Amino acid sequence: MDSILVTGNGPLNGQIPIAGAKNACLTLMPATLLSEEPLTLTNAPRLSDIRTMTELLQSLGAEVTSMQDGKVLAMSSHDINNHRADYDIVRKMRASILVLGPMLAREGHAVVSLPGGCAIGARPVDLHLKALEALGAELELKDGYVHAKAVGGLKGGTFEFPIVSVGATENALMAATLAKGTTVLKNAAREPEIVDLAHCLRRMGAQIDGEGTSTITIQGVDRLGGATHPVVTDRIELGTFMLAPAICGGRVELLGGRRDLVEAFCLKLEQAGVHIEETEKGLIVDRNGSRVKAVDVTTEPFPGFPTDLQAQMMALLCTADGTSVLEEKIFENRFMHAPELIRMGASIDVQGGHATVHGVEKLKGAPVMATDLRASVSLILAGLAAEGETVVNRVYHLDRGYERVEEKLEGVGAKIERVTG
Ligand code: UD1
Repeated sequence: MDSILVTGNGPLNGQIPIAGAKNACLTLMPATLLSEEPLTLTNAPRLSDIRTMTELLQSLGAEVTSMQDGKVLAMSSHDINNHRADYDIVRKMRASILVLGPMLAREGHAVVSLPGGCAIGARPVDLHLKALEALGAELELKDGYVHAKAVGGLKGGTFEFPIVSVGATENALMAATLAKGTTVLKNAAREPEIVDLAHCLRRMGAQIDGEGTSTITIQGVDRLGGATHPVVTDRIELGTFMLAPAICGGRVELLGGRRDLVEAFCLKLEQAGVHIEETEKGLIVDRNGSRVKAVDVTTEPFPGFPTDLQAQMMALLCTADGTSVLEEKIFENRFMHAPELIRMGASIDVQGGHATVHGVEKLKGAPVMATDLRASVSLILAGLAAEGETVVNRVYHLDRGYERVEEKLEGVGAKIERVTG
């Protein structure tokens, strides 16, 4: 199994290109199932999760061709010849559940295995199912599979999400584009990935209003056509690499970075004493000299501070001046990186959904274990600022969500290498 070797090497300087968003691409890809005509995505990230979604769509009969070294995905779902998303593929990735809404909407029936994914809490799919039921779907759970049908097609309806769910909003939004009549989704997620999905669906001919607000209204149409759509910038990759110069010092420009995608995160970084500047090409982050200051962080649905940047932010706060409290409000059990950071000399006390981080002067390199996607990159960030060598084991999590992470960090002066084994 591969591991990553990181050696603390002082300030970072240069540029890092930011890829298209994994989470946007994973919801845009199943949108191909809504139409007989081709859907082409540009600015796609090159990640193992994207390959898993490719495999899943192909198993349903879609054609997916990866071009330009994976940056362009040309898809066509002219013939859906299999309506069963198998456990063997679905278990690898929770986003697989996103094929349910589109398949049901276009074909009137689908069987999808209950998903797996990162081990961060229970993560049920009840909201996906309830939202589809509100559109007239009949669902049955049998042997670990959701058996769904919509006799006579889905019908528009009103559904209010009891809690904000990104995935459930996406599934319902896609399904509603082909439902008869009007659908109103209340307390919908407002994440940039939802906005990007709505833009793509509109290009395909869908009638959608209100994306980016908590009420989305969809007027169903009879059919959707083809489209070409560029995947929005990955705000989580952006935030992660913004933390590299924040932790190590230096000045790095994040190419393609947009402040509006990470505003709540930028405000916290600035409060900690990190300088951020918007440029024509993206964002510049710089920190020179003094230690960052402690800040308190609470994760929330967009536009709040993203849960997917909590682990990386904790890596920064480990060496801040003072005590920071991180509150995780989206997923229980999402502090699995804390014991690993403690192995590196951090002082962290976890109590339920709160982690209290007492900043120390310096972290020390150590062998550590990646427990999930974002945790693994937080350990790399911590390793960049630590004294000596850090070995991050189990990096397969990392490859699910970060494109060429070693290359990108090496490009700004980090000492980092992948050890294959
Ligand atoms: C998406 C992102 C993930 C991110 C998360 C929150 C993708 C592929 N993944 O995950 O990286 O961390 O948003 O920003 O886009 N919940 C239920 N029932 C459901 C669905 C969710 O109780 O049916 C709960 C979850 O357990 C969690 C909360 O709702 O506590 C939010 O989860 P959700 O927004 O659905 O996350 P995902 O869409 O799975």
